[in-house]
Amino acid sequence: MKNRLYQLFIDDVTDLCYKNCLSYFPEKSRVLDVGIGNGVMTRNYHSLIKNKDFRITGIDINKSYLNHCDRLIRAYQLENNIQIFHKSVEAYAPPQKEYFDFILFSMSFMLFHNQQIVLDRVRHWLKPEGKIVFFQTMFQKRSRLMEFVKPKLKYFTTIDFGKVTYDHDFYHLLERNHLSIFEDKLLKREWFKGEYRIIVTSVSNGNGGGHR
Ligand SMILES: C[S@@+](CC[C@H](N)C(=O)[O-])C[C@H]1O[C@@H](n2cnc3c(N)ncnc32)[C@H](O)[C@@H]1O
Repeated sequence: MKNRLYQLFIDDVTDLCYKNCLSYFPEKSRVLDVGIGNGVMTRNYHSLIKNKDFRITGIDINKSYLNHCDRLIRAYQLENNIQIFHKSVEAYAPPQKEYFDFILFSMSFMLFHNQQIVLDRVRHWLKPEGKIVFFQTMFQKRSRLMEFVKPKLKYFTTIDFGKVTYDHDFYHLLERNHLSIFEDKLLKREWFKGEYRIIVTSVSNGNGGGHR
């Protein structure tokens, strides 16, 4: 049931994200997918993932989504390309420092209670030329309606849509964290003037070195 609801609400958006990201990532990229969810993207992109020989590490806190993801990985024989872990981003640690070419937050960044803690951790997991990629709905102007509606959606759909992300706050967060914008692309306009954007950032002063 949970997975059906998830597919109903999230599928198109998921497809929009992974279509853009997977075509953007160069061959053999090592990617951390933070909040990989139920892995439905593998249905459309299993061949691309194999052909480009990606190494994707998916982490998520939701065991039911991960079980679904695991079944798809096996169905499409993606065991060499996708590894999944039942871990939060706050608890996960990569096997070695400077491990990933890309860290992807596909509709997950707005769910974290403390985004600063997450950024402080993940920057150390990137290779020196690595990039952090955010895909999310963003709003230019304050929408009290969205602020009211978003938290309530969880009760009807069981899906946590997180908090409303405003351009000003998000760009300010990037600036404070010395994350330079490499690419910022509008992929789709949504209800109430929301915009699905993909924002590729790099750590301006290197990735900070230390391993967390
Ligand atoms: C809206 S879903 C997006 C799933 C998938 N990335 C997509 O684009 O369809 C967000 C996912 O983030 C996961 N998540 C939430 N908080 C997390 C955390 N602290 N660490 C890792 N995953 C988390 C949720 O369980 C959920 O599967």
